[in-house]
Amino acid sequence: MVLGEGTEAYASDGRQNDQPTGRPKGGALSERLTISTIRDQIVGVETLVPLFDGTHSPCINFDNASTTPALKPVLDKLNEFMQWYASVGRGAGIKSRLSTKTLEEVRELVYRFVGADPKRHTVIFGKNATEVINQLARRIPFRSGDIVISTAMEHHSNDLPWRAVAQVKCVEVDERGVLDLGHLAHLLNRHANAVRLVAVTGASNVTGVVNPIHDIAEMAHSVGAKLCVDAAQLAPHRSIRMDDVAVERSIDYLAFSAHKMYAPFGIGVLVGLTDLFQEGVPDHVGGGQVDLVTRDHILWSAPPAREEAGTPNIVGAVALGKTILCLQDVGLQPIAAHEAGLTQHLLGRLSRIERIAVYGDTEADRSADRLGVVPFSIEGVPHELVAAILDGEAGIGVRDGLFCAHPYVLRLLNEPADTVARLSQELGKGVPVHMPGLTRVSFGMYNTRAEVDVLVEVLEGISRGRYEGQYTQDARTGRFVREGLSFRSNKELFSLGADFPKLRHEQYDSSHPRIRR
Ligand SMILES: Cc1ncc(COP(=O)(O)O)c(C=O)c1O
Repeated sequence: MVLGEGTEAYASDGRQNDQPTGRPKGGALSERLTISTIRDQIVGVETLVPLFDGTHSPCINFDNASTTPALKPVLDKLNEFMQWYASVGRGAGIKSRLSTKTLEEVRELVYRFVGADPKRHTVIFGKNATEVINQLARRIPFRSGDIVISTAMEHHSNDLPWRAVAQVKCVEVDERGVLDLGHLAHLLNRHANAVRLVAVTGASNVTGVVNPIHDIAEMAHSVGAKLCVDAAQLAPHRSIRMDDVAVERSIDYLAFSAHKMYAPFGIGVLVGLTDLFQEGVPDHVGGGQVDLVTRDHILWSAPPAREEAGTPNIVGAVALGKTILCLQDVGLQPIAAHEAGLTQHLLGRLSRIERIAVYGDTEADRSADRLGVVPFSIEGVPHELVAAILDGEAGIGVRDGLFCAHPYVLRLLNEPADTVARLSQELGKGVPVHMPGLTRVSFGMYNTRAEVDVLVEVLEGISRGRYEGQYTQDARTGRFVREGLSFRSNKELFSLGADFPKLRHEQYDSSHPRIRR
């Protein structure tokens, strides 16, 4: 079984091949990974993608805040592991025992990766950050009148789960999208007796703003509230220390997703105070989390097993474990420095292009203080069209729209409340509307200055109305498609082989009525 490029290092029986391949062997970390060598270890950086004129160009991926590509060493490790893959926590055979032990090894790696204390914290595996934040929200025994303080910059995944279980008060942001800590202090003061939890993102998926999570922890703890940090964006870019700080500044709950850390295969992590999970009924219930079940009694296992219903995603866990080792090998500091350099370069060049407005912090010299996530708009050009042209003219993949953080982007755009209310009404009635939004560039550790220069060149062209392809707007979706080459005709690039003439449900292509999520 071969999962990707760079897997030649292993024969089909899992033994290492003797023959050199002439390319770096991703599986063996004997040669240290560094920022300057990491690009060779990324799957798909050389994938050729079709341009508007029928030619092909290497894909430039500037959509790392959504999902990162996979690391070759991760795929190599998975291929190696597949020879030993078996059930976790259930079987008596050697493969099952090894798989079970491997899952626990990954748990140990996670503790170290986020600086958590195994005496206080439990590492729980789930599907992604969204799922584990929901799990946490439902596990906290909120009482009527309890308040969660969330913020105006949250991704929906760290906003909607709290709205479902408690009364939510929202900390405002300023016009650059920076959290108003004075407002947080005010809310904590005002609702001191009722605040059970503060939920805040470690870093914004829209502006790259990095929040002072330890200061916020101290503020939350001062009124007896706990802190949940959504680290989906932070984890691939910054070193996280949950516990090896003064206890009043420590992080109580932390969530992140491996697919944003170069390790696909569907695993997310919640690291949380063990105490919470020792009581009550788990959110999901079933096999693998009980010591004994009788007709009228359930004896729950100790956490983390108690919180992990069903068969664990051991393949995802192996990928996560290996990617943590790789990120530690490269070093979070060099990663941050490299991405800050790219951000500084991009902001510097964008500031010289008329008709381009950058949102959030526009100051190139402050790039080291934020993540490499840069949202912008081009005057007179819809965000959907900017994204389509970048794809069509240069094979550059970005994201546009509201980035699952609607309140935040609408605030950055300064959309008047009555416009938003009208949009909401029309959307509710199914009336096609043009959704406001931005275009977003987000860097990963493997991106290069040369790629940024290609991007800026195309953006310069767009800002002057100079681009070569023809793009027409799909009336139903609002998406722009290039003439002559549609998403559907790309079947020759990749196909599962099932070859259905028409799909009934193409949620992510064309059937969604002009709603950009
Ligand atoms: C800040 C933030 N939080 C949470 C999530 C949700 O992550 P997932 O989709 O992996 O659950 C995202 C995804 O973009 C994010 O950017």
